Formats: sequence, C-alpha cells, structure tokens
Amino acid sequence: MDGPSGSGKSSVSRGVARALGLRYLDTGAMYRAMTWWMLRHEIDLGDPGAIAARCGEPVIVSGTDPDGPAIHVDGVDVAGPIRETEVTGAVSAVAAVPEVRARLVAMQQEIIGSGDIVVEGRDIGSVVAPDAPVKLYLTASAHARAARRTAELAGTTVEAQKAAMARRDTLDSTRKTDPLSVAAGAIELDTSDLTLDEVIAEVLSVIKERT
Ligand code: DC
Repeated sequence: MDGPSGSGKSSVSRGVARALGLRYLDTGAMYRAMTWWMLRHEIDLGDPGAIAARCGEPVIVSGTDPDGPAIHVDGVDVAGPIRETEVTGAVSAVAAVPEVRARLVAMQQEIIGSGDIVVEGRDIGSVVAPDAPVKLYLTASAHARAARRTAELAGTTVEAQKAAMARRDTLDSTRKTDPLSVAAGAIELDTSDLTLDEVIAEVLSVIKERT
C-alpha cells in the first residue's frame, strides 16, 4: 500500500490487516525512527554523507500488530516522539539517503519474508515487494489530505498542513533513490470522498478478486 501522507494508508492498511488477520508493517515509522536517532545524536541532516556514515548504528525494532504497532530504537519506545513535528520536518532528508534506504529496505524484506502481511509506505510495490500479489496506491485531494492530518494534530490549520505536506511530497517524489511513484500493476484508489469503511471494503474486494 503506497501513497502520499494523508491518503489514508495507515488507517486503511491497519483495517485491512485486522479484517484478514494479517500482520501489518508501517515502513514510514522506520524512516521516522532512523530520523529520531539522527536528531538525538545531533547528526547534521544537511550532510547526506554524515547520515550515511551513521545509519548502520541504530537498532530499530518494528512490531507488526495492527492493533498496536510498536517501534523501538536502541530499546527506547519511540512511537510517540516519531510523530512530533521535529521528526516530521526532518524525515524526508533522511529518507532520501541511499544508504538509509538500503538498510531499511533489507529489514523490511526480512519482516515480509516471514509470512503474509500488509505493508504501507512509498516504495513498497516498486522496490520493497515488487512481486506482491496485490498492490494499491491510495491518493486523495490536497484538501482532503490536509483536513485529515489537521484532525489528528492539535494546534494546526488546514492551510498550514497543506503547505507542510506539499513540501514533503515534493521532496519524497523528486528524490533520486526510490521516489514515491505508482508501481507497475498497482491499483489506484482516490479516497477523497470515501469514508474509511468504504475504502477498506473496496480494498478487501480487490484483494478477494486478485488472490
Ligand atoms: O508515511 P509517513 O508519513 O510516516 O512517512 C514518513 C516519511 O518517510 C515520508 O516523508 C517519506 C518516507 N518514507 C519513504 O521514503 N519510504 C517509505 N517506504 C515510507 C516512508
């Protein structure tokens, strides 16, 4: 399940995993965890070489329970801190570094290899799991995406979220290594005017058809 932020990926992926009794992996949380570690160690995020040199160090452990996806870095529970604005504002720079991607993609492939799973991210259908039996690409209008994010966060406005998301989307889709893109064979689903339950039902019917 790929798509930009606010497209509904996380809620839909978790709902689908729950409905089918599958595991769930949030790969964005892994990039955020890597970013949290870099910030904590005061690595210069303007220097891709510095990020590359240290990205093998953090021990990142991702849970796969859709009811409570856990994420730990060096034994610290970072599920809360990785959602804060400091990490959100810095993650695109870290996720653009090829050495970071190589390490996290290998970890993701190892998790995927141990059984059926719903995986969400930006490059899952294209790079991480190109042979996935079902590939989906969720989209939504800029307004719908910003409105959803605003409802999740305190103290922000739709306009501020729209600007922050546009900036992150540009960075994520123009980077050289594995940019956000619609994978070959992926089914695109615009979620702007659908409720969460409607999107989940649509995805479940696609899965039934395809598998
Ligand atoms: O889905 P998210 O907002 O939590 O993702 C955080 C960042 O990580 C996002 O800006 C892009 C990056 N990312 C990525 O490059 N590849 C992935 N598979 C998942 C996320």
